[in-house]
Amino acid sequence: MSNRSKFPTKIDLDDIGYNTSDNPSFTNILETRLSRRGFVLGGVGSGALALFGGVSIATLSGCNSDDDSSSTPTTPTAPTEKLLGFTAIAKSLADMVVLPAGYTYSVLCALGDPLSASTPAYKNDGSDTDFDNRFGDHHDGMEYFGLDASGKPSTTSTDRALIAMNHEATTDEKLSSFFLHTNGGTSTLPRPASEVDKEVPIHGIAVVEVSKASGSFKYVQNSSFNRRITPLTPVEIHGPARGNALLKTKYSTDGTTTRGTLNNCGTGRTPWGTLLSGEENWSGYFTRPTGDDAARGNDKSVTSLKRYGRSEGAASRHGWESAGSEDKYARWINAKTGTSVDGTDDYRNELNGMGYIVELDPYDKTKAVRKRTALGRFAHESAAFSRQVVGKPLAVYQGDDARNEYIYKWVSTATWSAADANATDRLAVGDKYLNDGKLYVARFNADGTGNWVELSITNPALTAYTTYPFADQADVSVNSRVAGDAVGATKMDRPEWCAVNPANGEIYFTLTNNSNRKVDATSSSHAVVDSANPRYYTDVKGTTNQTGNPNGHIIRIAETNGETAAITFKWDVFLFGAESTADGTKVNISGLTADQDFSSPDGLAFAPSTGICWIQTDDGAYTDVTNCMMLAALPGLVGDGSKVSLSYTKADGTQLAVNTYAGKKPTADTLKRFLVGSAACEITGMCETPDGKTMFVNIQHPGETTKMADIADPTKYTSHWPGNFGYGAGGANARPRSATIVITKTNGGRIGT
Ligand code: FEO
Ligand code: CA
Ligand code: CA
Ligand code: CA
Repeated sequence: MSNRSKFPTKIDLDDIGYNTSDNPSFTNILETRLSRRGFVLGGVGSGALALFGGVSIATLSGCNSDDDSSSTPTTPTAPTEKLLGFTAIAKSLADMVVLPAGYTYSVLCALGDPLSASTPAYKNDGSDTDFDNRFGDHHDGMEYFGLDASGKPSTTSTDRALIAMNHEATTDEKLSSFFLHTNGGTSTLPRPASEVDKEVPIHGIAVVEVSKASGSFKYVQNSSFNRRITPLTPVEIHGPARGNALLKTKYSTDGTTTRGTLNNCGTGRTPWGTLLSGEENWSGYFTRPTGDDAARGNDKSVTSLKRYGRSEGAASRHGWESAGSEDKYARWINAKTGTSVDGTDDYRNELNGMGYIVELDPYDKTKAVRKRTALGRFAHESAAFSRQVVGKPLAVYQGDDARNEYIYKWVSTATWSAADANATDRLAVGDKYLNDGKLYVARFNADGTGNWVELSITNPALTAYTTYPFADQADVSVNSRVAGDAVGATKMDRPEWCAVNPANGEIYFTLTNNSNRKVDATSSSHAVVDSANPRYYTDVKGTTNQTGNPNGHIIRIAETNGETAAITFKWDVFLFGAESTADGTKVNISGLTADQDFSSPDGLAFAPSTGICWIQTDDGAYTDVTNCMMLAALPGLVGDGSKVSLSYTKADGTQLAVNTYAGKKPTADTLKRFLVGSAACEITGMCETPDGKTMFVNIQHPGETTKMADIADPTKYTSHWPGNFGYGAGGANARPRSATIVITKTNGGRIGT
């Protein structure tokens, strides 16, 4: 979700933070001054140093042209590649996508493009319909699933694939997704059904075939693989919450199904070739009328609803519930209106059907999406798998993106069998690894260590938790935020994507920013600076002071002995986001230069081919100076830097000392700005071909800052991309569209070299 609202203007429906638990703020342990002895390289292989030491690496294949040229074979000349060999690009406010010299891009697909042969081309003037058969809006996380010539899964195909892509949300103001409607749509309740029926299906997931048959990647409009999952598509509940009382609704009286997936943000790719998609800010699409607390008898469901951001009387983001009496609109009213004891005659439990990691088999459109309830329910971002070791459990790392929320780890009961990578019933493999196991939440300690605390119904901290009496493990899964409160998890600066370094198994988490990080806890929604979230500072944007941690940081974790099932770890901060001119001792701790400085890291992925760590931003703090961007980094190791001591003056005049652990400062060769996006966009989602020579990147919500009132005056749109790039209808006056771009290197080399 966009950050434009976080710093400082509009109030988001979510990301606001509903964590009022009194988990330890670490003031009592901040004074500890434990030695870092034994910290460096503890238990973790040092392969990354050999791989990413800045040495030149020759490509295995010397071919540097498209493989459809068929002239006389010549001896391939192996170009010498240096990771991050490109020249870093400057910050930019231009309404265009900027890449380093030697790189070029095309647009693969954009909001509204047709996904079936019979759907007309997108006119982009507000008149288009049939969004069930078009790409959705706000392209977000995506993954590449290779296809061989016969249409079977392939892990090596570089010219044909399925891309599964999240469509997170839509550019909106005052209820309406205004670029979708001719005159901007209706900004008051009730919303017309004709508008709602366009807005709902632009959310969800798209699967699309892409092919390089014509020399460059295009999407295949009439492919039989193309598929849309929308917020109304029937989906299955799996894991401990399947059939539980908490999931019973008028739609699913046995609690085994629900409709759709919503606000899909980050992604993950399973080792068995399916997509994982995180449901993030789903809560705000629902509404509860005033009086619902009393109707529920102020039972524990009210505690849960508030913890997940739905107090009674809160308005919904789009007012979809107002479009009519049909069930597809009524389901957005999360209220006890019926007389049943179990909720099978209303939608009082509807919110419990959202907030999961969902699994989709991109190769088989006949199979329904499965919600993996065992992995917990929160504002999910990406889901990153540990490296797979035969005979060892799999770990899946996950973040909860709201202010002062937690980091989680799932550990499967089943141990990895390599044969599962090639199974044909892929969702059955998902059942094997993602239904049975243990869910943990992270506690970061002031000495640079951490603990994974199990969220089990047998954990005494949960059984003793009177704020919310847990009934069973399903209740723990559905209310994992509450369970995290109960065990004293560490409140983080908005965990976004996570990714696992393929070279050494270390886990990286972007912590995008946090305006509710303080020196003094002035309200229950504020967290106090601690070792893992150590910065409080003021950043100026125009005439506005932005306080807390406006620029975010990237934390990384090394499991003890590299074990996926470890319950202890070590951590440090890979990079602190900052403006290059900010104070080097308190803010720009990583010493970022003008070619490296960034704010609000969000998307994060390690390229399988090169091992480069790609960092994408969704920023509202530094956008007076630059549009959002993507940077390339060479990862090091947890513990390769040094301890940093910070000191703050509290309101009572006393000093608060905070130690943190900063990774080794980047050099000009280890961190470079690679891409800057078009105006008022965010950069999110990235995947590549197995040879690393083609990269797909999503440009989400260009022109998001456009005012709905200006819909009739294109000169006031804050972006016209990609129309102004020559893609689709509208040209220089086009309505902006979220889009997927295809990046290649003009010499045919790998991306990031
Ligand atoms: Fe959808 Fe937290 O970004
Ligand atoms: Ca974000
Ligand atoms: Ca600034
Ligand atoms: Ca995100």
